[in-house]
Order: sequence, then C-alpha cells, then structure tokens
Amino acid sequence: MIEEQAPATLPNAWQLRPQAPAIGTAIGRLDAVAEDGSKEFVFGVGLNAFRMFVVRREGRCFGYLNLCPHYSLPLNVRADEFLSRDGARIMCRRHLAVFTIDDGLCIDGACTGSKLEAVPVSVDQAGMLVIG
Ligand code: FES
Repeated sequence: MIEEQAPATLPNAWQLRPQAPAIGTAIGRLDAVAEDGSKEFVFGVGLNAFRMFVVRREGRCFGYLNLCPHYSLPLNVRADEFLSRDGARIMCRRHLAVFTIDDGLCIDGACTGSKLEAVPVSVDQAGMLVIG
C-alpha cells in the first residue's frame, strides 16, 4: 500500500525572490507607518534587495512588493512616496499608473488590469508589523 503524502504548499512568487523575508519576520513598528500613509521596508542590499511597502488605510495594513508591473521598476522616486495626492490610491511615480490600495489592481495607466504583488502583513500584539 502506498502512503499518501499531503501536497506540498507552494510558496508565493514574492517568497522566491532573493532576500525575501520569512513568514513571521518583524519588519518594524506599526506606528512607523502613518495612518493614511505608506512606508518602504528593504531587506538586503544591492540590486537584489527585497523592497516592499506598506500602506495604512482605515485601520488596515496592505503590503506590496515595490515593483511596478509596467516596467518592473520601483514605484517611488522619493522615499516612502507611494500614494496619490488624495491618499486614496497607490500611484507609480515612473509613469503614473494608479492602483487600488486594497488589492493592488491597476485601474489607470500603462498596466491597467495587472496587479501589484501582495506581500501579506499583519500586526502582532506588541504593535509590530510582521510578514504573514
Ligand atoms: S514603471 Fe510604473 S507605470 Fe511605468
């Protein structure tokens, strides 16, 4: 009789990137990200550094790879600048593509219909942002 094995869980694409943080990694204090603001977190150094950003909106946190689906470039030009002027959308500062905050869908611009790659984040009881 052949014993069945549970299927292996496939990692998400962001987990396969060089220098990706492990699930459970504390990335910083929640209050380092202003409410209705955004902040970048970088793991590693050099061209292969893992760059992600977190947006706080209406009591929730959303994490994404800092990689625009248009040209695979970082979205920001200035530090921590990931939102539209009214703060209601994520905006790529390279060619001004606009994305929803809650699911990273591009709704206007050069890559309409594609999505930012989500990196799951949560907040632990000590007020730390954690991967996963
Ligand atoms: S690289 Fe983001 S819109 Fe072109």
